[in-house]
Amino acid sequence: MSTELGCVEHDTLSLSPEEQAMLAGEEGPGVRKAIEIIVALGRIYGARRLVPVGSVQVAGVSYRNLGEAGLRFLREWADRGARARVPALLNPAGVDLEAWRALGFSEEFAARQAAVIEAYARLGVDATCTCTPYLVGNRPRLGEHIAWAESSAVSYANSVLGARTNREGGPSALAAAITGRTAAYGLHLAENRRATLRVEVRCALRSVADFGALGHLVGKAAGNRVPYFVGIEDAPSEIELKALGAAMASSGAVALYHVAGVTPEARAGQVLAPTHERLVVDDLRPAYAALDTGSQPVDLVWFGCPHAGLEEIAEVVQRLRGRRAKAALWVTTARRVRDQAASAGLVAALEAAGGRVLTDMCVVVAPMQELGFRCVATPSAKGATYLPSHAGLQVRFGSVEECVEAAVRGAWDES
Ligand code: F3S
Repeated sequence: MSTELGCVEHDTLSLSPEEQAMLAGEEGPGVRKAIEIIVALGRIYGARRLVPVGSVQVAGVSYRNLGEAGLRFLREWADRGARARVPALLNPAGVDLEAWRALGFSEEFAARQAAVIEAYARLGVDATCTCTPYLVGNRPRLGEHIAWAESSAVSYANSVLGARTNREGGPSALAAAITGRTAAYGLHLAENRRATLRVEVRCALRSVADFGALGHLVGKAAGNRVPYFVGIEDAPSEIELKALGAAMASSGAVALYHVAGVTPEARAGQVLAPTHERLVVDDLRPAYAALDTGSQPVDLVWFGCPHAGLEEIAEVVQRLRGRRAKAALWVTTARRVRDQAASAGLVAALEAAGGRVLTDMCVVVAPMQELGFRCVATPSAKGATYLPSHAGLQVRFGSVEECVEAAVRGAWDES
């Protein structure tokens, strides 16, 4: 049915003339397929309109997850002439695209991974592979609509930056990049951004790992609700908020949270819904117990989940105090952050200690069985949640300080 504004209604969904033209195939079959995905999602979730997105982050990058079927899907879409029309970046891949051989990954996997990146490049997606696009110049504005896919990035964008995104799947994020639009439902709408779980924190948070531990507990209790934190004394840093959100998105499905007096929407007004439940957290030990599988020795120590910023790399170097690591020591980050770290002398300092600053990749989606590691230490609650199930690895979970000491000793300090 046509409206006075020239829009066509599909159930309750109104499409602009430009969107109708896409749906009619006027911009080619690749664009039509993309808008069909966006419209189908809009109908399923009862959206009334589509909204333009400022940027996209596409998940489904590691060849380990995509396989040949996923690669073929991407190539066919590119063959149909589809190209991203808004800035779009990739989630981490399965290997460092340059250092894979030195790390011991197989040529076979690296070649298939390169083919995936090449297919995305044909689709107009920037080959920057990172789960922290906000650390490499893509920092959406308060209220800006975006379509991001990786759960920790979604949480950060919604909560810390106040941008608006649902957690997109791989195809829906790519469809948003190709059309420049997403359907306005879920967290794109103000009424769904109010908190329904008031979380009273009654224990001290002394490290980034503590924020992850808190997130682990709250995520489990919250499911996909929106938590509102009170009692987090002293304004948490963006690194701590990054860890908190990543943990809640992995133990639960939290895509947005507010912190009283800290996050932008909580600062701007009342975000707690009149009807809400209450959760008190006064002990983080259950999270530490759940996230640490208790193995020895530690043969890999992993920092940079989510991908590390410059300050986090600097902290690892500073805590090493010139000592050499016995265990393998990896810091994963975005390529641009690695370049900055190299300019600051941090890459050389880490390499002098026997460590490596790796780009493009995530240990959770890497073919880790090719390298023979058994036990990984990490200060990331998200990493600790996924490493056993996704990478088949044992985990020691603790503070950055404990993880650096584990790297130096090649073992976890049990005392
Ligand atoms: Fe990023 Fe992988 Fe951790 S995608 S958040 S480094 S599990």
